[in-house]
Amino acid sequence: MRHKVPAGMDRKEAEIYLRLDPERLPKHIAIIMDGNGRWARRKHMPRVAGHRAGVAAVRSTVETAARIGIPALTLYAFSEENWKRRPKTEVAFLMRLLCHYLKAEIKTLNEHNIRLEYIGRKHELPESVQREMEYASDATRHNTGMILTLALNYSARSEIVDAFRSLAAAAARNGGLNHLEVDEQSVAEHLYTSHLPDPDLVIRTSGEMRLSNFLLWQLAYAEIYVTSTLWPDFRGTHLLEGIAEYQQRERRYGGLGKDHLHAPEKATAHVRAEAKR
Ligand code: FPP
Repeated sequence: MRHKVPAGMDRKEAEIYLRLDPERLPKHIAIIMDGNGRWARRKHMPRVAGHRAGVAAVRSTVETAARIGIPALTLYAFSEENWKRRPKTEVAFLMRLLCHYLKAEIKTLNEHNIRLEYIGRKHELPESVQREMEYASDATRHNTGMILTLALNYSARSEIVDAFRSLAAAAARNGGLNHLEVDEQSVAEHLYTSHLPDPDLVIRTSGEMRLSNFLLWQLAYAEIYVTSTLWPDFRGTHLLEGIAEYQQRERRYGGLGKDHLHAPEKATAHVRAEAKR
């Protein structure tokens, strides 16, 4: 039997959604939003016009993800490198755009039962921006649906450094550094994302094949989906196409594929034969 299409979807989205298996949706999707500048250049517009157009893409993607019941969506909005390597005027524009988005979107986030959170070194952002961020996350704090995380002034390496510092500080509080225990679980528990499952799927727009210092620890086993669509043109339909592709993939976590799982002896014999050669 075909599953039901969630209310509010357009025809194109519904068509793709019906091809999906609702039992195997990713629990966490991470998106590297890229291509705003190129989008603007193609239209002979200033770069900032691409960022402004990118907000419509954020809105459509967030709403579609919430409608289909994705538990967590994380968007890479602003890296630590962006902050240092872009003209001041562009950075200031991005900050204003973010504040505008946060104010304008609270109502919609609440309607969709979405809780807004952030990852990144927030304290390095301008205080006025931090206040807007706090106001928006407070206003959605009681929502129990999708967790929307904006990565702002984020760097995965800084996150890992912060996790180690926090691990060491915790050990110092609990009797000194000879009590320091480091394993995968304890590192994960000190990351900014300790309350989230690792992303199953990472999407990057505009065709670039890089992770750009995004969730390096958490993406260890994620499926990577790169689309040539530039971020301002990305919509819920593209998100659903990414999920459809994800559902075609076979996730192996370093193990053997499902063909081998049906014939483990054959696989072992093959490995032995290879080892003898
Ligand atoms: C990458 O495009 C995009 C960014 C650095 C900023 C992302 C911001 C938005 C999508 C708009 C606002 C976001 C929120 C959450 C309200 P680029 O400028 O690197 O593009 P290019 O590689 O084509 O130059």
